Amino acid sequence: MPILSKPRWALPESAATPERLFRERRSLIKAAGLGAIGAIAAAPAAQAGLFDRLLGTDGPKADDEIDPTADLYPAPRNDAYAVMRPISKEELVTTYNNFYEFGSHKRIFNAAQQLSLRPWTVKIDGMVENEQTLDIDTLIRGMSLEERVYRHRCVEAWSMVVPWTGFPMADLVKLAAPLSGARYVRMETFLDPEVASGQRQSWYPWPYVEGLTIEEATNPLTFLVTGAYGKPMEEQNGAPLRLATPWKYGFKSIKSLVRFTFTDEMPSSFWMDIAGSEYGFYANVNPEVPHPRWSQASEQPLGSEERIPTLLYNGYADEVAGLYTGMENQRIYF
Ligand code: MTE
Repeated sequence: MPILSKPRWALPESAATPERLFRERRSLIKAAGLGAIGAIAAAPAAQAGLFDRLLGTDGPKADDEIDPTADLYPAPRNDAYAVMRPISKEELVTTYNNFYEFGSHKRIFNAAQQLSLRPWTVKIDGMVENEQTLDIDTLIRGMSLEERVYRHRCVEAWSMVVPWTGFPMADLVKLAAPLSGARYVRMETFLDPEVASGQRQSWYPWPYVEGLTIEEATNPLTFLVTGAYGKPMEEQNGAPLRLATPWKYGFKSIKSLVRFTFTDEMPSSFWMDIAGSEYGFYANVNPEVPHPRWSQASEQPLGSEERIPTLLYNGYADEVAGLYTGMENQRIYF
């Protein structure tokens, strides 16, 4: 049964203005404090975007400045997921991103502000008892939010440690009530080429798709993220809803989700469609299994000059190795 509630976020313009001014100022501060990563990685086009922002020529954000769930933050931290590494600086995590919908470079945070976060619905369909379309605020308010500090290891060999806020994906699976024949969950990102310039590049197989087995999706570590650093998540990190599977390479952590489809067929992902020999379905982190074009033995934490050793399952072997018992000879590591 579709559940679409009246949009509580539809505040009058007068109420939105102070928050907009606040966010504009925050963006400027963030843009000005880019630091080392900006110096290393900024592409010329992205730098142009940054200067536009500093000069105020790309205009104010339109309609999505106030997050209607902001009162839920900060959520209580679940210390069961502590990480023995320093938390990455927020200004790095929010300015060095992979989000191909907004460009195939790292400086997309400015372009991603164009993504309108409300109204936003999430569809649950396929082999489930409870097909439904949920308003994002109804979904978030229906869950018990908690903060978890997770590692994130990109397949490109950089890494970060982020305090995400969200809820276990198992709770969404429970809501869906999959039929006994369902074996996988296929997840899909929004599709809006007018807003996301990358989606006008027709050689990519949009929309971005990822998949998990039901056992992976219901593993307690699998987290659906709504916030970061004690507040609602920013567009560039995948607002309003993204996945965190910290034992897998980062491309599995699909952003800005709009659909969960339960199926008995292994879904083909965005990256499997582009280069299936390099990016597989399971993509579990293993320092001993190199990417076909580079080593995965070590990684560079955001903001650090030093490389550190990469860990099997990105340090989460105790939690997830059991998912792959008997599958060691299959392609589970890249
Ligand atoms: N999700 C979508 N929809 N589009 C993307 O390009 N990039 C992935 C993942 N999720 C991506 C995505 C990759 S490669 C990584 S490493 C992480 O998002 C990066 O997350 P971050 O930008 O928050 O660090």
